[in-house]
Amino acid sequence: METTKKRMLSGIKPSGDLTLGSYLGAIKNWAVRADLFDCYYFMADLHAITVRQNPADLRRRTLEQLAQYIACGLDPEKNTLFIQSHVPQHVELGWVLNCYAMFGELSRMTQFKDKSAKNADNINGGLFTYPALMAADILLYQPDYVPVGEDQKQHVELTRDIARRFNGIYGDVFKIPEPFIPETGARIMSLTNPAAKMSKSENEDTGRILVMDAPETIMRQFKRAITDSDTENCVRYDKENKPGVSNLMTIYSACTGKSYAEIESEFAGCGYGKFKPAVGEAVVETLRPIREEAARLMKDKAYLESVYRDGAQKAGYFAEKTLRKVYKKVGFVAK
Ligand code: TRP
Repeated sequence: METTKKRMLSGIKPSGDLTLGSYLGAIKNWAVRADLFDCYYFMADLHAITVRQNPADLRRRTLEQLAQYIACGLDPEKNTLFIQSHVPQHVELGWVLNCYAMFGELSRMTQFKDKSAKNADNINGGLFTYPALMAADILLYQPDYVPVGEDQKQHVELTRDIARRFNGIYGDVFKIPEPFIPETGARIMSLTNPAAKMSKSENEDTGRILVMDAPETIMRQFKRAITDSDTENCVRYDKENKPGVSNLMTIYSACTGKSYAEIESEFAGCGYGKFKPAVGEAVVETLRPIREEAARLMKDKAYLESVYRDGAQKAGYFAEKTLRKVYKKVGFVAK
């Protein structure tokens, strides 16, 4: 096991569908992280069932997610990739940490409040205690950093509080992890509403592109993309007054590496009619190798299996060490 690099760990909920936005804004940059950090990523299937799932869909999406991340450049030789439910120590430490997470703390989690408002007919115990499982996910591996989006920062803060509380009682058991706010990549907005972030929960009609979308779908979406209702019909970067065109320029720039100035001169005098399909083409070509590779991996079940088994074995070895220590500290009889 790599010991000199700092360790980083993150969980990914198996929703399956990666968007162009999350690829260009984040995942694209993950491949190079492995040179700097000892990286662990897991598919958070245990977390997924806090809201009702169709079993066949959950199984398929967990594998699709894994295939798509590998296709985006997460090399299983350099990153530890596994499925959360394959490492039972998550659940075991999760239970213990439940006993060190306070009702009041869990009640204050904004995600719990949001999700219980949205799923009023299924406000289950798992939804409530989810942050204790997330704390276990993290603390098992003693990571230095936990890369998370804004919406998960509160859970990482709670993880730190639980770890400090536990260490305060039993001595230094857990490393206190830092939230890691990733270097910001391109911020991609919806194609039909450039005021909102491109989100995977939106349907096709609301301007999102998926990494797995067929080229025809992508082209159709870009041809329909909202441009701005100014009269100049000219490709110019102006986020305030031309949010639609500026968003398309951001996408084009992220796909081609061209600067805004270069894009403006490339399309000078062309109008939006030429620009929109050009952006579509650039996106199609950027996503093509990823889509093809992910589709190929999805057919190679033996390979995916070898990845997640090796990952779980490596993760399990480490997780078990932490769990033993915890069990001993709290007073369980050794096996
Ligand atoms: N809760 C995270 C989300 O909703 C996923 C997650 C689960 C996670 N366990 C984690 C993220 C541990 C970072 C570390 O996106």
